[in-house]
Amino acid sequence: MNLEKLFKKYSSDKFTHQYHKIYKLYLNSLKLRKLKILEIGVADGSSLKAWSEYFKNSKIIGVDIKKINLKKKRINKKNIYFHCGSQTDSSFLNNLIKMYGKFDIIIDDGSHYPNDVIFTFKKLFNSLSTNGLYFIEDTQTSYNHFFGGNPFDLKYSNTHMNYFKHLVDTINYKEIPNPFYSKKKYDGLIKNISFYNNMIVLKKGINDIESNLVLNNSYENKRYLTKISRGKGSNFRYYFKYKILFKTYTFALFLFNYFKKIILLRF
Ligand SMILES: C[S@@+](CC[C@H](N)C(=O)[O-])C[C@H]1O[C@@H](n2cnc3c(N)ncnc32)[C@H](O)[C@@H]1O
Repeated sequence: MNLEKLFKKYSSDKFTHQYHKIYKLYLNSLKLRKLKILEIGVADGSSLKAWSEYFKNSKIIGVDIKKINLKKKRINKKNIYFHCGSQTDSSFLNNLIKMYGKFDIIIDDGSHYPNDVIFTFKKLFNSLSTNGLYFIEDTQTSYNHFFGGNPFDLKYSNTHMNYFKHLVDTINYKEIPNPFYSKKKYDGLIKNISFYNNMIVLKKGINDIESNLVLNNSYENKRYLTKISRGKGSNFRYYFKYKILFKTYTFALFLFNYFKKIILLRF
């Protein structure tokens, strides 16, 4: 059965949200694999039942802050495991990681509070396997001040939408010609981040492709080396142009943006 039918069969709101259309893009080819799938937020177990039937060879691990009677809700399937705890409880998550090791797929369908979503991602990223997928549902809470979101500052407020929007730059970190750039935690470790209606999908994976324009975060160094390696024109001319003129311009721009950031309190 496909995901659309399974979400319908178990009355999961993943069907109402049309999330099956997104999930199928990523999960179709993984259906028969032996995976460890963690879903935060179980409620009545609709999605766990759907995953359990879709991923017959996989372990489905559900987490919820509320105690859930698996028998009563008919979630007691052979490949479903349940743990009661909070997605914001560091020691609970550590125990989960100790118990299962790395997860191939993580789905955050828990509290949907921006701080919780960001905390859980930071905590679980190391425990996502290479090429693993991280899904975050119901990102509309980012825009809603009754859920800890912010409808009035869509760019710089502390929401999970903004957190992941900014994280996108990590994918292109080698292309940033800022000589003062220091490698960030996720640089080189994320292959893609996709934004859908109310859903974010992130794929972990090695992303260390050399830049064609920039060398060690310097455009000037790359241009200088390219020019002198071609052997046309004087080396002094290139040195003056790239290492002195261009670098002065870069430094002036760096200072301008540095002070702009301080004045506007944007960090
Ligand atoms: C939207 S429901 C989950 C629905 C389910 N995944 C499905 O598709 O059928 C959200 C669940 O997250 C749980 N939850 C809320 N805060 C949580 C937290 N801090 N940690 C873990 N679970 C949480 C709630 O108890 C609720 O059962």
